[in-house]
Amino acid sequence: MTDLLRIEALSVTYPRSKKPALASVSLSLAPGKKLAIIGESGSGKSTLAHAIAGLLPRGSSVSGAIAWPALGHPAIPGADFGMVFQDPGASLNPVLRIGEQIAEGAQRHLGLDWREAERRALELLRAVQIPQPEAALRAYPHQFSGGQRQRIAIAAAIAAQPRLLVADEATSALDTLVQAEIVSLLTHLVESQDMALLFVTHDIALAARLADRIAVMHDASLVEIGPTRAVIDTPQSAYTRHLLSTHIDLADPPRIARPAS
Ligand SMILES: Nc1ncnc2c1ncn2[C@@H]1O[C@H](COP(=O)(O)OP(=O)(O)OP(=O)(O)O)[C@@H](O)[C@H]1O
Ligand SMILES: [Mg+2]
Repeated sequence: MTDLLRIEALSVTYPRSKKPALASVSLSLAPGKKLAIIGESGSGKSTLAHAIAGLLPRGSSVSGAIAWPALGHPAIPGADFGMVFQDPGASLNPVLRIGEQIAEGAQRHLGLDWREAERRALELLRAVQIPQPEAALRAYPHQFSGGQRQRIAIAAAIAAQPRLLVADEATSALDTLVQAEIVSLLTHLVESQDMALLFVTHDIALAARLADRIAVMHDASLVEIGPTRAVIDTPQSAYTRHLLSTHIDLADPPRIARPAS
C-alpha cells in the first residue's frame, strides 16, 4: 500500500538553539493506520507533530523530507490533515460560535455552500456526541466542559474529511474517565472514516490500547518503531525496555486500587 506519510531523516533545530530537537527521524504511516508516538517530556514528540503540520516557528533549521505519497501533492492543512492539541482552547476561537468554527473548514475545503456546511457541522457535533447539537451550533466554546470542548475541537479538525488526524496529547489534560471516552471516540472516528491517526502521548498504556504501531522517541531520536504488540512484548531498544519497566504491567494493568486494610 502506498504510504500516506513518509518522513525521511528529518532533523529540526529551533531558532537560537544549538541542540537539535529532532535528529534524523524516519518513519512512515499507511492510510487508515494508527501510530502512537511515545517518549518522555522533551524527547521531540511535539516537534515531530508540528513539523508534519507545518507549524514549526519561523527560522527553525529543518533538513530531511516529509512526503505524502498517497496524496500526490504537499498536504494542505485542514483539508488533508487536521490537528488537535492538549488544550482545546488552542484550536477553538473563543469569540466564534461553534457552528461557524466547524462549518468554516467544510466550506473552505469541501466547496460546500454555507447551509450545507452548517448541516455538516451539525452532523459532526452528533458524531462527537455533543448533547443538543442544534443549540450547540449557536453556542460559544466557554459554554462547554473541557471534555466537550475537546470533542468540538476534534469535530472542527475532521470537518473537511482529512486523511490524517494529528493529536498531540489531546487527552492528557482530561480526567481519566473523559480521557477514555475521547480515546474511544477517536478510535471510532478514524476507523469509520478511514482516517489515519498520529497520536502523541507519554502514556504507554494508552498507546498500547489505541495504536497499530508505536514509535518511541528519546532525546530527539526515534529509538524504536514497530507493531504495538511487538514493541510492548519484545522491545528491541534498551530505552524502550527501561520505559516499559517504569510503567505499570501492560499485560495486567491494575483495575481499581483497593484501599489498604
Ligand atoms: N519553540 C521552541 N523553541 C525552542 N526550543 C523548543 C521549542 N519547542 C520545543 N523546544 C525544545 O525542543 C525539545 C523537544 O521539545 P518537544 O516539545 O518536541 O518535546 P515533547 O516530547 O513534545 O515534550 P512534552 O512531552 O513535554 O510535550 C525540548 O528540548 C524543548 O525544550
Ligand atoms: Mg509535547
